[in-house]
Amino acid sequence: MEKQIVTTNRSLTLETEKLLNDQVAKEDFSSAYYLSMASWCDKTGYANAAEFLYRHADEERQHMLKFFHYINEAGGHALQAELTGIEHNFKSLRAVFELVLAHEISITQSINDIVDHCFAIKDFTTFQFLQWFVTEQREEETIARRALELFDIIGEGGVGLWTIDQELGKLESFVQNSATATGPI
Ligand code: FEO
Repeated sequence: MEKQIVTTNRSLTLETEKLLNDQVAKEDFSSAYYLSMASWCDKTGYANAAEFLYRHADEERQHMLKFFHYINEAGGHALQAELTGIEHNFKSLRAVFELVLAHEISITQSINDIVDHCFAIKDFTTFQFLQWFVTEQREEETIARRALELFDIIGEGGVGLWTIDQELGKLESFVQNSATATGPI
């Protein structure tokens, strides 16, 4: 029979553990969502947008794992999420990046809610752990906004969509350059 090790020697509350596991599910969903977007871009001919979204999907998995390991290291039990409701088809390239921005804003709100909770109950360890994500969300929203700006600046007519796709492949370097100008992100 499996040996059960039960300990109450931990600072992590059950409520915080639940919030962190909910975030595991959200990061896992983000990864799957962006992977699905990448696939749609790939088969629709937007090769650079696809590469960007494949990379982004990998990043979201790393975010999920950060939460996963933190929960277990803090004495909790990280749970693999059940994933449902992944869209496979999208209206347009612009619609994809509108969805990315809306999704990132919802993730920022979710992270902020956990930060707020940790501050209120004086869980400063988890509060500090979350600071990386607070900074990361700033970067993620900047990238998504920049992507949408490309559609307005370049325009979708003629070779516009082809040019936009080229630029979408360079989004991360834009944010890295911004970071040099405004401080580390
Ligand atoms: Fe893990 Fe895009 O937030």
